[in-house]
Amino acid sequence: MSVTVHFLPDKVTVTAEAGESLLNVADRAGVTIPTGCLMGSCFACEVEIEGQEHPVRACLASIPIDEPILIVRRYDDPIW
Ligand code: FES
Repeated sequence: MSVTVHFLPDKVTVTAEAGESLLNVADRAGVTIPTGCLMGSCFACEVEIEGQEHPVRACLASIPIDEPILIVRRYDDPIW
């Protein structure tokens, strides 16, 4: 199933496949999500996904199968 993924604040939209790694989708879209450990420990890759109560670590996240549209807001912190 194809999922439309919008990245904010970049305002970039791409099509992804359910189960695809969120970091891979961002990379394909030309959107940089900061990373560190790539193991879920450092929280450098946290993003917000609209409709979810808590931030998500992008290095552990994949495109869900039950959402036709996913809105991902990355933090735009110039210091991090
Ligand atoms: S890169 Fe460290 S938690 Fe994702």
